[in-house]
Amino acid sequence: MRIILLGPPGAGKGTQGERLVIKYNIPHISTGDIFRAAIKEGTELGLRAKEYMDQGKLVPDEVVVGIVQDRLTHPDTKNGYLLDGFPRTLAQAEALDASLQAMDTPLTGVVNVDVVEDELIDRLTGRRVCRGCATTYHVKFNPPTVRSVCDKCGGELYQRTDDTVETVKQRLEVYRQQTAPLIAYYGAKDILYTVDGSREIEEVFAEITSILDRQH
Ligand code: AP5
Ligand code: MG
Ligand code: ZN
Repeated sequence: MRIILLGPPGAGKGTQGERLVIKYNIPHISTGDIFRAAIKEGTELGLRAKEYMDQGKLVPDEVVVGIVQDRLTHPDTKNGYLLDGFPRTLAQAEALDASLQAMDTPLTGVVNVDVVEDELIDRLTGRRVCRGCATTYHVKFNPPTVRSVCDKCGGELYQRTDDTVETVKQRLEVYRQQTAPLIAYYGAKDILYTVDGSREIEEVFAEITSILDRQH
């Protein structure tokens, strides 16, 4: 099962990804999570990525592509993986295609999670993330049992620095210009499945899994 989750910021890629990787027992490869981990560790990559992320801009393609290409050589990807937040430019999609072709591992499907923009702003500004395990919550739509505490690991929840209204608007603009064209790109390859991501988390999950189960 080799899946891409495509969709604007706040569509629910991380939320659905967390659940999908448990069901299919594959690694969750989120480029955003990789950068946030690097920032936390204070590495050179983290310092470089933070500059772009805090402005709501994309990290340069050559940086991201190298990281993902390397990640896809790890043994845990042998039975598949879920890519969340990559690719998000045409150049990244083309580089990924070239790598997958060379490895003879075609994609199972690209799931496009579709949500209208007004809803995205509410979702992002109310999001909270666990410092320990990166599980995603929402103060209204998906609250933890105990306020500010992760249900899974007891870690502290925090608000991402790019989840301010201003940065969210910039991220949505970047999505429209640079990432939305991937919908047509994968549509032309006949591996695109669009789901209505505005429904309840469990309903969206049920639709995605019913699509993926048919691809086996
Ligand atoms: P990244 O971390 O990938 O952020 P993003 O794409 O902006 O997406 P989000 O993580 O914000 O949204 P999501 O779809 O995962 O939604 P979530 O499930 O959390 O990237 C961050 C930055 O890193 C980028 O801006 C860029 O700088 C850099 N970067 C990363 N990848 C890159 C790449 N490939 N190239 C270049 N730069 C890159 O849900 C959002 C909220 O909504 C949560 O609170 C959740 O609880 C709630 N929610 C989810 N589903 C529902 C539902 N069905 N109903 C109600 N609420 C819901
Ligand atoms: Mg995410
Ligand atoms: Zn946690």
